[in-house]
Amino acid sequence: MRFSWLGYEVAGLLPEHWQEQAVEVANKHAIFVDVPGSSSRPREAREGTPLRRGRVPGKIVADRLPWLFDAYSSMFLELASKFTTEEIVCAKDIRYGVSLNVTIGNDMWFECHVDSNPLEGLLFCTTHPPGSGGELVVANRSDAVGVAGVDADSSRIYPITGQLVFFDARQHAHYVRELSDQHAVRVVAAMNYYTPSCPESVRAMEDSSYLRLL
Ligand SMILES: [Fe+2]
Repeated sequence: MRFSWLGYEVAGLLPEHWQEQAVEVANKHAIFVDVPGSSSRPREAREGTPLRRGRVPGKIVADRLPWLFDAYSSMFLELASKFTTEEIVCAKDIRYGVSLNVTIGNDMWFECHVDSNPLEGLLFCTTHPPGSGGELVVANRSDAVGVAGVDADSSRIYPITGQLVFFDARQHAHYVRELSDQHAVRVVAAMNYYTPSCPESVRAMEDSSYLRLL
């Protein structure tokens, strides 16, 4: 099946200054981790450099951005329900629910991977137009492998502040390109949703090693 996504413009539904708050929390609380380099990286990436990326864990999001945590489990959950006929539920474990993904400058990115959760929601908190990097690049085909395979036939989702997107990328490899401006900051709220056919317990087993880093 070809990759598709569902998008909403939700800035008008969020509290005043929501974007500034999210970026401030990202700047203050993001934890940056180095992951050993792999071949599953954007073509422009330099060989031998580790993957570096930042994340604000779910517990801090719940404490510092309560409106986002509430939206995840109410308003956004309702919007997400249009994506599938299955019942959609939020994560019970706060670590798997909503977190902020943060990249700064041109030496951070998210490597090529497939998701373990059946529905991912992204609320973009910064804008990165075409040519400035930071786009989510997703393989249109389910048999694509690695960055070269993704790039050969891909959909590109360019971050626009206030845009909320939902997708199922369990079968579609994807990565986030690094920013071209070394001072630019990319912040996105990443939200995990689950279904009866793909429950949270699957995710918990697969991601436990990564969560230990946080
Ligand atoms: Fe992903």
